[in-house]
Amino acid sequence: MKKITLILFTLSSFSVFSQNPNYAEDVAEILYQNCTSCHHNGGIAPFPLMNYSEANSWGPQIVLETITGDMPPWPVDSTYQRYSHERILSLADITTLIDWNNDGRPQGDPNLTPTAPTYVAGATLPNPDHTIALPQYSSNATIEDDYVCFSVQTSFATDRFIKAIEVLPGNPAIVHHALVFIDTSGIGAPITTDCMGVDGKLVAGYTPGSTPAIFPNGGNVKMGVRLPAGANIVVQMHYPEGSAGMIDSTKVNFFFYPTGTTGVREVYTDPILSNWNLWIPPNTTPTFNASYPPNNGVLPYDFSILSVFPHMHLLGEEITSYAVSPTNDTIPFERIKHWDFEWQGFYNFRNILKVPAGSRMYGTAKFNNTSGNPHNPNNPPALVTAGESTTDEMFLIYFQYLLYQQGDESLNIDSLLNVGTSINETQFLALEIYPNPSNDYISIQNNFEREFDISILDIQGKIVKKESGIKSTQMVSIATLKAGKYICYITSKGNIYSSKFIKN
Ligand code: HEC
Repeated sequence: MKKITLILFTLSSFSVFSQNPNYAEDVAEILYQNCTSCHHNGGIAPFPLMNYSEANSWGPQIVLETITGDMPPWPVDSTYQRYSHERILSLADITTLIDWNNDGRPQGDPNLTPTAPTYVAGATLPNPDHTIALPQYSSNATIEDDYVCFSVQTSFATDRFIKAIEVLPGNPAIVHHALVFIDTSGIGAPITTDCMGVDGKLVAGYTPGSTPAIFPNGGNVKMGVRLPAGANIVVQMHYPEGSAGMIDSTKVNFFFYPTGTTGVREVYTDPILSNWNLWIPPNTTPTFNASYPPNNGVLPYDFSILSVFPHMHLLGEEITSYAVSPTNDTIPFERIKHWDFEWQGFYNFRNILKVPAGSRMYGTAKFNNTSGNPHNPNNPPALVTAGESTTDEMFLIYFQYLLYQQGDESLNIDSLLNVGTSINETQFLALEIYPNPSNDYISIQNNFEREFDISILDIQGKIVKKESGIKSTQMVSIATLKAGKYICYITSKGNIYSSKFIKN
């Protein structure tokens, strides 16, 4: 009996710490799970990663982009708050990719490759109650992106409660994002060009690889957004530069609670934190603040917050929001250190956040109106103020929230949405390396409690130096490395710390 246990243990520890990963048995699955939703033919990413030869030719970049957490795209800082459906690779997967690349990217036995996922431009949620089809539109994005708003009237006789919304891009290769608003202002041209959105209620966002917007509706929980009778649905579309002449006709599927359903808790969706006094002179990087309620007021009731959606335009650089409770506890909502207009969306908290009565909410947003900002729409930089068009700026943070009920904070959103619960705990953190650029030595500044191992990768993603038993602030010799760019990383407690540096 003892012997059997021992053998089993040896076998299983072998597979967990497999040092010689190959494409077929180890790498393909990681790419299928985490990358190919965008990296397939016709997907939004610029190249596919669907088979061995594609993965092999991108091997070095795959390592360099995943080690830093740059791919898959996931802009919110998960060291600040945790969300449902975080798009984060696990440390084990990253290690597999590094080892595979380091070993020369073996294919393994092609017959062992798992079946590739198929991507059809189809719905993941069946049987919608209502579908809105936007008219066929030919993108005007030649050298600048095209931002267009479409307004479609609804004609329901009574208010309806929305359970879920799924955006189905007509042409997934050119739909970089879509925002769905409920607009009760009654006006609204069918098509508005140069439009970043409307002054309505933002209810759902789509970016490539995102999941449908579903409001918690499992078991006894029924939450939904009200669609007032006769409201318009406005969809703001973003078509990236170079897509001119390509045709799109995106659809939006709506799922309602049956009319007459009782006990639906209304989810409100409002830009609670905002600042419209934006004055951003050229060649400046100002920070603006927002808070709620106005005049130093405090929230009158306990609220349950489902999700947060930070929004800026092209000059945005950083955006953070949080609440401070009456007992002076900080309740973090989100922090985005590198704002990327292309990857905006609602972030659902992993568990509903309770913000107690007496709290205040705060936001800060930093803008970069210099020519060092590659997205700056003005060249040379020009004065920018608040507004809806592409060359204006915005600082809005939407929240989806409802009145608190006992027990809300223990509701796990992943399980209520019934869309899988794969959660990776890996955090991507910065490593402080000094000096940078370096000549013969680098030293790591972080305060790790124990000794650690460092690895240095070259731009081919190959490990060129590995050293164990390093202590913080100890000098590590890099004298033998050629001049060039490198990435240094260490792993600690399931997290990965990395930094790029230059060796002179
Ligand atoms: C949600 C969509 C999405 C997912 C998921 C995604 N990518 Fe990407 N990827 C992109 C887009 C779009 C680009 C083009 C550059 C950009 O817009 O950031 C890109 C670019 C890249 C690049 C080139 C970067 C460069 O600048 O050379 C690499 C390498 C890459 N992705 C690897 C991966 C890997 C590996 C995964 C999975 C672990 C992955 N991506 C997951 C959308 C995605």
